[in-house]
Amino acid sequence: MMRLAGKTALITGAARGIGYEFARAYLAEGARVAIADVNEQGAGRAASELGEGAVAVTLDVTDQASIDAGVAQAAEALGHIDILVNNAALFSAAPIVEIERADYDRLFAVNVGGTLFTMQAVARHMIDRGQGGKIINMASQAGRRGEALVATYCATKAAVISLTQSAGLNLIEHGINVNAIAPGVVDGEHWDGVDAFFAKYEGKAPGQKKREVGEAVPYGRMGTAADLTGMAIFLATSEADYVVAQCFNVDGGNWMS
Ligand SMILES: NC(=O)c1ccc[n+]([C@@H]2O[C@H](COP(=O)([O-])OP(=O)(O)OC[C@H]3O[C@@H](n4cnc5c(N)ncnc54)[C@H](O)[C@@H]3O)[C@@H](O)[C@H]2O)c1
Repeated sequence: MMRLAGKTALITGAARGIGYEFARAYLAEGARVAIADVNEQGAGRAASELGEGAVAVTLDVTDQASIDAGVAQAAEALGHIDILVNNAALFSAAPIVEIERADYDRLFAVNVGGTLFTMQAVARHMIDRGQGGKIINMASQAGRRGEALVATYCATKAAVISLTQSAGLNLIEHGINVNAIAPGVVDGEHWDGVDAFFAKYEGKAPGQKKREVGEAVPYGRMGTAADLTGMAIFLATSEADYVVAQCFNVDGGNWMS
């Protein structure tokens, strides 16, 4: 049985990586999906690759007008929105004494403001419609504890966990479940960028950090985006109706909480 038959989802940052894989998994479960990304070309390519049921939406989560227009466009194209995945995010790394304010502002604008105000826009739509909904925010193991070179990103992901708790408590009276997923280390283009930061600051050879973090996972390897889809589907179904304001680690055993 298809677990998301008749459902519709808006996924931010779905032009590639984990968001793309979530879109594929939701489509396979019978949902129709808006592939929302600031990368217009990437969103268009992803939607045409994913085929029937996928629509591309250009949406910059740092721009309120773009959020409002993108959410309206997705609601129009899909009929309504049952599920939101706040997945768009940026990563950066630097020692504390080298952090630049512009980089800090950029990361908070995308990872925290983007999550909050996209959640707000879609929650308004869901409340108006009166049929509840599911909101899934992408946190990270980085939100569970600080890391020496990753202060800003870790702080943004701790904020995502906190926003999930507050929004979860606030929106459940409307039948809107807000929960989060905290991945560990997930292979993909994103991690190529992460690896490059560590190569720069820890003097590692390209690929070395990636190999080391993979070997350190209790499960024995890095995660893949496909490792996360089970949780993303579950949280979007009515089986998760009683799951409120939680953050689930899907990380091969890296973190326990
Ligand atoms: N890959 C990992 O190891 C890992 C680990 C833990 C958590 N996460 C989280 O999972 C999520 C997805 O990660 P990923 O590895 O697929 O990342 P990714 O970098 O591959 O993809 C992120 C997507 O977000 C889009 N994006 C960036 N800024 C945007 C904006 N302003 N508006 C709309 N879209 C924007 C990008 O264009 C890109 O398509 C992120 O929230 C990330 O923090 C990833």
